[in-house]
Amino acid sequence: MHAWMFASEDARTAVDARTAFVEFLRSIGTGDELVYKAELVFGELLGNVVRHAPGPVEISFDLGSGAAILHVIDSGPEFPVTQPHLPDDVLSELGRGLFIVQQLATEVRVERIPDRGNHTIVTL
Ligand SMILES: Nc1ncnc2c1ncn2[C@@H]1O[C@H](COP(=O)(O)OP(=O)(O)OP(=O)(O)O)[C@@H](O)[C@H]1O
Ligand SMILES: [Mg+2]
Repeated sequence: MHAWMFASEDARTAVDARTAFVEFLRSIGTGDELVYKAELVFGELLGNVVRHAPGPVEISFDLGSGAAILHVIDSGPEFPVTQPHLPDDVLSELGRGLFIVQQLATEVRVERIPDRGNHTIVTL
């Protein structure tokens, strides 16, 4: 079983973690398709923390028991993960990230952690 963990007091400084994350995936022989998917999902979720929930962030990736699961814990306000849909305004620059994540993932859910924030769980 492989796991990767990262914690930062500031989501903005965590952006560099993406490179380390991809290096970890490569180092354990992860196939290209999963590396690309995981990197994209990682980037969207971390981008969301930077934009919508600045503050401490914990990211972990668990490759146990067959599935690959990315966990992101932030300190942001509660938000809904709705059925996959694109923004009503097709020219809108916003609201595409979670849609793309849902297209790539088997499951996306967000659990509320009292006195902490959101725990986003993406199964790839
Ligand atoms: N970590 C988070 N904490 C709080 N709210 C969030 C978080 N992630 C997403 N949201 C909310 O969910 C909405 C949808 O997120 P989504 O990533 O799809 O779009 P976006 O970040 O607004 O734009 P983009 O298309 O650039 O990703 C956001 O606009 C925000 O209101
Ligand atoms: Mg986004």
